[in-house]
Amino acid sequence: MRTNAMPRSRVRGRALLAGALAVLGTTAPVAPSPAAAAEDTLGAAAARSGRYFGTAIASGRLGDPAYTTIAGREFDSVTAENEMKIDATEPQPGRFDFTAGDRVYDWAARNAKQVRGHTLAWHSQQPGWMRSLRGGPLRQAMIRHINGVMTHYRGKIVQWDVVNEAFADGGSGARRDSNLQRTGDDWIEVAFRTARAADPSAKLCYNDYNIENWTAAKTRAVYAMVRDFKQRGVPIDCVGFQSHFNNGSPYNGNFRTTLRSFAALGVDVAITELDVQGASATTYANVTNDCLAVPRCLGITVWGVRDTDSWRSGQTPLLFDGSGGKKAAYTSVLNALNAASEAPTPG
Ligand code: G3I
Repeated sequence: MRTNAMPRSRVRGRALLAGALAVLGTTAPVAPSPAAAAEDTLGAAAARSGRYFGTAIASGRLGDPAYTTIAGREFDSVTAENEMKIDATEPQPGRFDFTAGDRVYDWAARNAKQVRGHTLAWHSQQPGWMRSLRGGPLRQAMIRHINGVMTHYRGKIVQWDVVNEAFADGGSGARRDSNLQRTGDDWIEVAFRTARAADPSAKLCYNDYNIENWTAAKTRAVYAMVRDFKQRGVPIDCVGFQSHFNNGSPYNGNFRTTLRSFAALGVDVAITELDVQGASATTYANVTNDCLAVPRCLGITVWGVRDTDSWRSGQTPLLFDGSGGKKAAYTSVLNALNAASEAPTPG
């Protein structure tokens, strides 16, 4: 369910009206070109090109009106920052708890925002009982977890991060060692096949960080996995590039090549957890333009609303300062989105 189709039809409607007036020979004062009329929120500006602009939402902050005012106004997509993770949703084996996840989901739905699901199979934020499992019982627990969570949210989630961060950092290009990996190399494809059956309406994503730089071994390893999955018919629809840029993992101008290369494999791409140490306006604009340049880039999610909401608050990496003020990076992103024309046909 996409909530951002209206602006495109609005643009088309205005174009039709302009055309009709032209046929009638009307010489009324020319209004500014509708396509050039700038939107004044991130979500509306992204919708001009058929994309979304989202944020991570923390359920614990939903009682803060300053937070919900900005989040409600600016974003049209929501990712639960922690509330749909394994430890939150299955704290005891087989006993699911969607209290916090539903709080985020319900807020998003009430405010007409689409929801990205994050995340079903991950080495981190596993509940204690899962951390202690190995082998077959862990594999079965992973399958039960995916079924339990996706069944609860069936038909409500636009994209699910089915598997998160399964590859190692550094130059090896290897899988990350974890209890899930030790159940066998096929754990990732089993997760995707399980997910497809549990909710055929959701796009199924692989999500990771440090896979933005096209020359990095980790990027190439994930690329090889996605290519293999597409060749063998493993159901994967999208790749999420977390895009946590900082001095240790800086933005590189070849990110666009990465997005294009993955898209050429036949998957959608998305920027899923964007933050930039120091919030360089130039870097934010570059990332936005990289997504806009790739027809299969579905949209951008920033990992939090204000700097003070960030997991890396000391790096002031987001678009709003702690007082809710718009930073220079906000303006650069909004301008880039507004400069985009209507969406090219995905492909
Ligand atoms: O909720 C408890 C609270 O009850 C307790 O008092 C407090 C004490 O430390 O901890 C709270 O939980 C914290 C939780 O965030 C909620 O604030 C955890 O300690 C903390 O580890 C957890 O951090 C989250 C982190 O994932 C855990 O891996 C961050 O908020 C969240 O932004 C971050 O998000 C990840 C993505 O899921 C995957 N990609 C990387 C990204 C950044 O690390």
